[in-house]
Amino acid sequence: MSAGREFVGPYRMFHLIRAGALFEIWAVRPVAERNALAMKWLPPGKNHSRSAAAELKHEFAVGKTLDHPSIIKTLDYGTGKDGTYLVMELFKTPNVKQQIQAGVERLHWRLDTILDEAAQALDHMHQKGWVHRDIKPDNFLVNEENHVRLIDFNLSRRIKKGLGKLFSPKGTPQGTYSYMPPEQIRGQAVDERADVYSFGCMVYELMCGKLPFTGTSMNELLNKHLRSKPTPLGMLQKNVQPEFADLVHRMLAKDPKDRPDNLREFRQALKAGRCFHITPKKPVDEENETAQAKEE
Ligand SMILES: Nc1ncnc2c1ncn2[C@@H]1O[C@H](COP(=O)(O)OP(=O)(O)OP(=O)(O)O)[C@@H](O)[C@H]1O
Ligand SMILES: [Mg+2]
Repeated sequence: MSAGREFVGPYRMFHLIRAGALFEIWAVRPVAERNALAMKWLPPGKNHSRSAAAELKHEFAVGKTLDHPSIIKTLDYGTGKDGTYLVMELFKTPNVKQQIQAGVERLHWRLDTILDEAAQALDHMHQKGWVHRDIKPDNFLVNEENHVRLIDFNLSRRIKKGLGKLFSPKGTPQGTYSYMPPEQIRGQAVDERADVYSFGCMVYELMCGKLPFTGTSMNELLNKHLRSKPTPLGMLQKNVQPEFADLVHRMLAKDPKDRPDNLREFRQALKAGRCFHITPKKPVDEENETAQAKEE
């Protein structure tokens, strides 16, 4: 952590939210303004690699093209002696991965609303011509009012159509292995359906608390994405409706042609109440908290 620094550019740093491998996420306040914002910051010095700075600039360029209530608002970018930084709306809440770790069943009573907002956000990206390429619970924030923000456009790329598909850069697969579609692993061109696959992995995990594929090594995990069938969702979550489980498995198809083209069918299934058989109840301790808040 780069403690002791009071300002980065014109922003006062007041609270470290998270220190990742490269970037630090801070709550900041612009000088002479009261409202808090979030900063993704690449401090100067040993971590200040050229490619990481370029990634942040790219993330800013992508974020500026997006305008949706469930996508984080991208506001500012700067680079100089204080390092490189991206400023965005602050959405103070744990990410969905952290909430899964606290017990996935605690989210079930409001899962349809959360997933609908998350799917709308991703749909917007696709309509703007982007594939996110790093869809996973860590990159969705959700608060107690069920509002969602999609974040982290570091790996997002333009969706290529027609001949452009033939010229995709090969190399080490970028993204998060637990949620990575076969075509991304193979370094082939990716489109909306790659995000549909990763979103399917996330829905599977949110429904039953387990990832569709795990492995003790990177190779084992990637091989499973390429070749293995996930355990039927209905075996791990008895309360899922069979048609919904089928839809999630179609999202996880190895060949993008066998997946839904976009998230519209998924959203329709949610709207028609096809997720759980029996509507899950709000956890008892949360009920008590709400009742207490009302009394106060
Ligand atoms: N605008 C924001 N408001 C509040 N919290 C945020 C915001 N942006 C990011 N965070 C928090 O910081 C975490 C990391 O952000 P982000 O995904 O953009 O960076 P990253 O480079 O992927 O970091 P990591 O390597 O830790 O995954 C998020 O999962 C979230 O908990
Ligand atoms: Mg991230």
